[in-house]
Amino acid sequence: MVFTSTKTISFKKTIHALPDAVLALLHDPKVLFAANPLIAGVIQDPSKPHTYTITDTLVVLGYFTTTTKYTAQLDLHKDGVDTAVVASLGTRLRGQYRIRAGENGTTVLEEDTAVEGFSLMMPYIIKTMAPAHEQILESVAAKAENRDSRHMKQLSRSEMSARIFLLAAVISACLVPCIYPYTTSLSLFAVIVSLLSLLGVRTKMGDPYSLFHLSLNKLGEDVPPKTEWLNMGYWQPCSLKLVQVTIKFREQKYNSLTSCCGLEALATKLIQAAQCKTGDSILDVGYGTGESVILLLSEPSIPRPSLIIGVTSLSSHHIRAEKRVERILAHQESKVDPPTRVLLHCADAVHQPGQASPSHPLGPSSTVKYNGILALDCAYHFNTRWTFLEQSLEKLASGGRIALADICFDPDILKRSRTAWAASKLFQLMPKANMVSPKDYVARMMEMGYVDVQLEDISQDVFPGFVRFLKAREIGWKVFGLTLEWYAGLGAKFIIVSGARV
Ligand SMILES: C[S@@+](CC[C@H](N)C(=O)[O-])C[C@H]1O[C@@H](n2cnc3c(N)ncnc32)[C@H](O)[C@@H]1O
Repeated sequence: MVFTSTKTISFKKTIHALPDAVLALLHDPKVLFAANPLIAGVIQDPSKPHTYTITDTLVVLGYFTTTTKYTAQLDLHKDGVDTAVVASLGTRLRGQYRIRAGENGTTVLEEDTAVEGFSLMMPYIIKTMAPAHEQILESVAAKAENRDSRHMKQLSRSEMSARIFLLAAVISACLVPCIYPYTTSLSLFAVIVSLLSLLGVRTKMGDPYSLFHLSLNKLGEDVPPKTEWLNMGYWQPCSLKLVQVTIKFREQKYNSLTSCCGLEALATKLIQAAQCKTGDSILDVGYGTGESVILLLSEPSIPRPSLIIGVTSLSSHHIRAEKRVERILAHQESKVDPPTRVLLHCADAVHQPGQASPSHPLGPSSTVKYNGILALDCAYHFNTRWTFLEQSLEKLASGGRIALADICFDPDILKRSRTAWAASKLFQLMPKANMVSPKDYVARMMEMGYVDVQLEDISQDVFPGFVRFLKAREIGWKVFGLTLEWYAGLGAKFIIVSGARV
C-alpha cells in the first residue's frame, strides 16, 4: 500500500553462556516478555497456546505516557523463536531470534525484525521499538550470564536523578560563596554539598559513571566528540604533542593542549608501562565505552594484539562498547591480517565465586593467559584491588605484565588526617582497603609474587592538567574540577604501577 512502508531492524549479541541455556530462555515466554521494557501487561489466550494480548506503555512527545494493546504470537524453533505482532494502525512485526554457537563457549544471538506500518508513524515506531528490542537481547544475555541487567527505564530515571543532583550541587557551590564571600569554611561547605550531591547520584545509580563523559570528549561547540575517554588524563606537554600527532593521523583535529588528547595520553602511557608487543593477548579492565579497546585496535604506533578480552561493570558502557568495536572490526575486515579477536564482558572486575558468569576472564574456568593486563583509571574502585591483583597474577602468562593507572595516598596523610578517608567514603570512590601509600602498594604486589614492580608518581602530570581541562568546560565540569582539586590537595597521588609474572 502507498501509505505503508517496511523496515528491518537487526541486532546481534555475543552471550557468555552455552547455546542450550540461551535457547531455554528464548523458549520461555515469561523471560521474553519481562525482557521488553515497554511491556506493562500480558494475558495469555486460553484457546491458542502461544498467543498473547500485550499492553505496552509508550512515551509520547518525550514526556506523556499512553498505553496500546496488540496481539503477539510465538513460534518456537530448535534454534530460536519467531514472533508475529499485530498492532493498531496496520502495524505488523515479524521477528526472528536465532542462536548459534560462538567462540570459547559463547552463543551468538541475532534478531531480525521486519516492521510494517503507516509511513508517517514509521520514525516513531522504530525510535520506540529499536532500543526496547536491543534491551531484550541485553536482558536475555544478562539472565544467561547470571548478572544484573540495567533496564532502559531504570537507566533513564537514574540519568534524570543524576542531572537533578548535579544541578543541586552546582547551585549550592555557586550560591554559598556569593552570599558569604568572606567565609572560606562556607566555600568548603559548598564543595561538601557538591560531594554529598554526587554521593546521592552514586547511591541511586550504584556506579558513578554513565554516558556523561561523551561531553568531556567534545572538540568544540559544533564538533561532536570522536573519542569516548573517561579518565583523568596525562598532561605532560611532550606526551600531548606526541598524542596530537597520532590523533591527527587518525584524522581528528585538536586545537590546543587543553583538548581531550591528554585523556588518550594516559592510555598510551599505560600501554607502554605494560610493555605490550605485537600478537599479545590483552585483558582490558574497566574499558568504559571501549575507547581503549579501539586505541589498541587502530593506533598504528601501538603493537597490535591478537586477542583483546575486556571486562567492565556497567551494562550501558558494555552495550555501547560492543557496538563501537564491532563497527571498527567490520571496517578493518580484510585490511588487517590476521584480525584481532575481541570479547567484551560485562561483569565486576573481581571474580566472585558463585556470582559472576562462569566465563569471567579472571575466573577459574577461563583458560586464557594474558601477556598484558591493563587497568586504566579504575582499580581503586575494585572490591578489593588486592583480590583483583591476586586473580590477575594467576592469569598472566610467564613474563606477562600488568599495568594500572591508579590512585594511592601520601603516607603522612593516611596516618594523620581522616579527611581523605572521609572524602573517599563520601564519594564511595574506593573501599578503605584500597587506600594505601605508594610504598605499601609496591610491597603488597611483591608479596603476592609480582616481580620487577615499578611505580611512577605522575600526580603532577595528572591532577593540575585535568583540573585545568575541567575548569575550561561547562559549569558541571567546573564544579567537578574544584572538587577534584580539593581531593588531590588532601594527599591523593596518581600513579602508574606495573609488575610482571616470573
Ligand atoms: C574512570 S572510568 C575509566 C574508563 C576507561 N578505562 C577510560 O579510560 O576511558 C572507570 C571504569 O571502570 C568501570 N568500573 C568501576 N568499577 C568497576 C568494577 N568493580 N569492575 C569493573 N569495572 C568497573 C566503570 O564503570 C568505568 O567504566
